[in-house]
Amino acid sequence: MSLKALLESLPIPIVQAPMAGASSPEMALAVSRAGGLGSVAAAAFTPDDIATAATLVRGGTDAPFNMNLLVNSSPAPESVDLDSALERLKPWYDELGAPLPERPNRFAIDFDAQFDALLKARPAVASFAFEMISSERVRALQAAGSYVVGTANTVAEAKAWAQVGADGICAQGMEAGGHRGNFITGIEESLVGTMALLATVRQAVDLPVIAAGGIMDGKAVAAVLAMGADAAQMGSAFLLADQAIVSPLHREAIRQAPDDPTGLTRAFSGRYARGLENRFMREMRAIEDDLPAYPVQNRLTQPLRSAAEKAGNPEMMSLWAGQAIKLAEAGDAGELVTRWWAEAKDAARALAARTGS
Ligand SMILES: Cc1cc2nc3c(=O)[nH]c(=O)nc-3n(C[C@H](O)[C@H](O)[C@H](O)COP(=O)(O)O)c2cc1C
Repeated sequence: MSLKALLESLPIPIVQAPMAGASSPEMALAVSRAGGLGSVAAAAFTPDDIATAATLVRGGTDAPFNMNLLVNSSPAPESVDLDSALERLKPWYDELGAPLPERPNRFAIDFDAQFDALLKARPAVASFAFEMISSERVRALQAAGSYVVGTANTVAEAKAWAQVGADGICAQGMEAGGHRGNFITGIEESLVGTMALLATVRQAVDLPVIAAGGIMDGKAVAAVLAMGADAAQMGSAFLLADQAIVSPLHREAIRQAPDDPTGLTRAFSGRYARGLENRFMREMRAIEDDLPAYPVQNRLTQPLRSAAEKAGNPEMMSLWAGQAIKLAEAGDAGELVTRWWAEAKDAARALAARTGS
């Protein structure tokens, strides 16, 4: 089997995007059971959590699923001036009446331990974003029975994943919600729209491509398949799903989203991400470049975001969402993919009629 054959064998060529802090193993199970490819977002998981999640999905279906990690090779950069970084956040903590956190001595879960757990979990697909893994690690996953998918925001990044032996590329357009996966060029140079990215990655790399970014309904699924994608990856479209672990305030902000609601920020995590524009994003923009890189800033704002949520204040929470978030609909994740696939078929029929084929 190849990744291409696996994607072709899916009854529904829709990948539920891994979304740390928003999707759940239960969502992955519902989507894989319905015929799509469910994804377990394991970035915030301990090795035990990774094993438990794999057991949960396997316990409910024999269908393939994906597990995803955010590659993090420098979990505790020593050069960061933590005192200044905390000082910049002090007015926000003060406003919420929350204590400024102590200087943490850990910023993220140990990636090597997560990777070993992923290797043992042997999901059909193992996907990665943020940085690359080595060709040795790619080969180890393949030997264990997992196909490796690397996230690319540019053609150069897709080529880099091909060079380390990845089985496929997730081409993440700039429309996408949550963190950008760019790792070669800076943010400005890596803001390529899904349509342009999909077409140019397909031309440059002879690997199956999963298109992501702004795909919110069956028409968009049909569109990327027509452009040659091997599957459509949908993230924001699942944020109102029953199985999403999205807070009530975040859900409400999505339901009430104004026109053109999203922006990019690195103020919450130290890595650019797309979310519903709020006061924290707006007011931190002027000093955004001075903030420490991921995962340090992410760790320093975690208590702030939790305190904001407790206080019912969405203006200081990370409300990740993609550009087309206004199309999000509530419902069971399995029923949503089934509906989108029916819509995609309708769109294909309408196009066939329009083209006289
Ligand atoms: C709340 C949220 C969390 C995300 N977390 C992850 C993650 O843990 N790993 C990952 O590879 N991508 C993550 N992403 C990106 C998605 O996998 C996907 O690329 C994106 O949602 C596609 O664009 P869309 O939101 O317009 O559908 C996240 C996206 C969102 C909205």
